[in-house]
Amino acid sequence: MAATTDLAKLVQPDRVHRRAYTDPAIFELEMERIFHKVWTYVGHESQVKNPGDYWTVLIGRQPMIMVRHSDGSVRVLHNRCPHRGAMLCGDRHGSAPDGFTCSYHSWQFHPDGSLKAIPLERGYSGTRFESGAADAAMRNVKPAARVASYRGFVFASLAADGPSLEEWLGPARIAFDDICDRAPGGEVEIVPNCFRVIQQSNWKIFLENQLDALHPAVTHESTGKAAHEVELELEERHQRAPLSYHFLSAFSTTPIPKWDDFQTLNYPHGHSILTGYMGLRPRDPDTLAYEETLRQAYGDKRMEEILGVNIHHVLCYPGLSVQPPLQQLRAVRPLSVDQTLTEIWHFRLKGAPEAIYRRALGYYNLVNSPSTLVNADDLWNFWKCHQGLASDGGDWVSFHRNAGQDHVQGDLVTSVIGTSEAPMRNQFSAWGAYMGGA
Ligand code: FES
Ligand SMILES: [Fe+2]
Repeated sequence: MAATTDLAKLVQPDRVHRRAYTDPAIFELEMERIFHKVWTYVGHESQVKNPGDYWTVLIGRQPMIMVRHSDGSVRVLHNRCPHRGAMLCGDRHGSAPDGFTCSYHSWQFHPDGSLKAIPLERGYSGTRFESGAADAAMRNVKPAARVASYRGFVFASLAADGPSLEEWLGPARIAFDDICDRAPGGEVEIVPNCFRVIQQSNWKIFLENQLDALHPAVTHESTGKAAHEVELELEERHQRAPLSYHFLSAFSTTPIPKWDDFQTLNYPHGHSILTGYMGLRPRDPDTLAYEETLRQAYGDKRMEEILGVNIHHVLCYPGLSVQPPLQQLRAVRPLSVDQTLTEIWHFRLKGAPEAIYRRALGYYNLVNSPSTLVNADDLWNFWKCHQGLASDGGDWVSFHRNAGQDHVQGDLVTSVIGTSEAPMRNQFSAWGAYMGGA
């Protein structure tokens, strides 16, 4: 097992040793010191509308269940029967309005995990189980240490102590405020189900890519060019091409230097925001109709404030990447040192016209889904990075771009150029603090 002193040597302000990505012992420590401590996004309240509705989810190494209890609250439980340890839910999601029944010996539990019934309970008479010495852990499904929800987005932490969800998110709360405020009804509803992708690479490589403003014009150039050619052709024929072409063509029409005009804001705990957005206020009829519904709901001034939030991406380290203007998020579930599951979800703005949902769906399918070339471009890079890092071709990963040149004010680091590797340095600063036990 890697000693803490060894770990400190792996992370320097402007570079990181490859072992941080490839050492299975370090991965196990990450589970224990990071993923079993921090707040992990488990799902959206609208996934579990009725009592007994549940979804299973991984927190670090722990299989968990998010479930709606009969009192209306959302609970998060370990997916483990207290009898002989069988998983309670084998399905990814379902509904158990009368509570859970274990498939092994039929112990039954209320949706909050408390024991409801045991078949032939007399078998326990005279045992420690019956005598009152039976503690809650013997009878009930173990709950997550802490559960909290922010604007309908449910998080759980397996650590009893630590900052509250709101404190921990800090300014990254804007991810959920922005996504919900854009709904005339102030709320979003999740669209079941999600895409699930297993990447053959370490989880940190995915997160580093999220706010990597240098890569889109390079990695996605061919995808962008192909889309732009068709977009121009459609514009010639019909004056206007569907906005969805722009989602892809922007990769070629936004050249590398332009990405330096954007900005990243880097906060404590490894969270970051990328400002700038490829098509925030298009003037097409769908957007105008949508703006009208917002105007009616909030008035002119508030509508302008809401649509004026100029954020493309919010990263809630270490497990969530949110794109609020397009109502989508990707949750990161590390599986092993070289395998990472991502769940890709999108949302419907309550009260917004159907066309705005179609736009989110378009981005979801064209940019974030496993079938799009954009995702394939990225996955190919992730795999190649992991292969290179697992080789003896060199020991260090470089994060020197604009190192020491960004603007620091208190605990906020603002990039001076959009392509600064400030977000990656910020992620590793949090990684070092977590792994060192801070
Ligand atoms: S293991 Fe669940 S009832 Fe026996
Ligand atoms: Fe990409």
